[in-house]
Amino acid sequence: MKVYLDNAATTFPKPDKVYTSMMNYMMNIGTNPGRGVSSASLTGNRVILNCRYALMDFFHFDKVENVIFTSNVTCSLNTLIKSSVQKGWHVITSSMDHNATLRPLNSLYTKGIIELDIVPCSCEGVISIEDFENALKPNTKLVVLSHASNIIGSIQPLEAIGQLCKAKGIYFIIDVAQTAGVLPIDFYKLNCSALAFTGHKSLLGPQGTGGFLISDEFNKQCESFIEGGTGSLSSSIIQPDFLPDKFESGTLNAPGIAGLLEGINFINSKGLETIREEEEFLCNKFMEGLLNIPSIDIYGSKDSSKRTATISVNSTKIDNSELGFMLDSEYGITTRTGLHCAPLAHKTIGSYPLGTLRFGIGPFNDIKDINYTLCSLNTIIRKV
Ligand SMILES: Cc1ncc(COP(=O)(O)O)c(C=O)c1O
Repeated sequence: MKVYLDNAATTFPKPDKVYTSMMNYMMNIGTNPGRGVSSASLTGNRVILNCRYALMDFFHFDKVENVIFTSNVTCSLNTLIKSSVQKGWHVITSSMDHNATLRPLNSLYTKGIIELDIVPCSCEGVISIEDFENALKPNTKLVVLSHASNIIGSIQPLEAIGQLCKAKGIYFIIDVAQTAGVLPIDFYKLNCSALAFTGHKSLLGPQGTGGFLISDEFNKQCESFIEGGTGSLSSSIIQPDFLPDKFESGTLNAPGIAGLLEGINFINSKGLETIREEEEFLCNKFMEGLLNIPSIDIYGSKDSSKRTATISVNSTKIDNSELGFMLDSEYGITTRTGLHCAPLAHKTIGSYPLGTLRFGIGPFNDIKDINYTLCSLNTIIRKV
């Protein structure tokens, strides 16, 4: 039996239409969207525009031109952070955030451009509003937070933080890599300035797709970042200042975007609520089973309604990398071990430097996968 439980890294498999639409784009459309007026190019434009609309609706946003494509959320976060910050800004993030946020912020901090506070979260991976408020300074101009942890699935109280940011005129960037396609996300309810997503996780698209949604106000604060050909204003060497072209230089990943569109269509037709209910159910069953395996400790909340279905564990009997290797080589179960690009999160939950064994449940897992994994874990633990 083969069981894929690394959906927090990237979802697999994808809905069938993701594969067929990408193949169709490559074989029957082929052109660069936004370049030229051939009928194939216009068909390509339509695919890109449809995906922009799908993302706009998905995140309850209302400005299609403010939906920007990039190659992944790392690229989105770098663009948003580096194109907006000014010397002397104080920026806040949290100890549960991913290196996609921590590294660009740290590099701006070490160059002396920004002041940086990384607010420590609880051992359940949640930032407290009080600690957040205590970190605020008169020169706090930017907050960057992930919606949920990629290690223990803890969900941050972003609506409340967004309200505080809005009241104080602070820009607020949210990384929804772990929640887009899992939890309902409303751009305006979160009171954010920009929402950065990646296409290949729970949005069910392929690798190499991602982007961000940006408010008009924050857009005014941001300069263009990657500059070059956009297919527009080609007589000028000046980067266009209108959206989405300002942030979309170079050829888009059109086949990937065609696939991402089908990933979103799949989520909409199955229903986000149904996906969340099923993942919550499997997460609950998995955690119940784990609690009965001697020597296994689960990190984070044991309440599946307060987390996504990403579960990290360690065993007191065997190293997590060895356990992950045995699950893969002897039982065909794919997981991920180590630090998952979030070293400070492991310091927060007490699993640094060895990290954890992470199980990422996704929309194509079922109860048989969960039972088989629990059974395999039980067998290994009894043997070692
Ligand atoms: C919370 C979070 N942010 C950022 C990333 C980076 O995603 P990508 O590699 O698609 O840019 C990940 C992926 O692991 C993540 O989980």
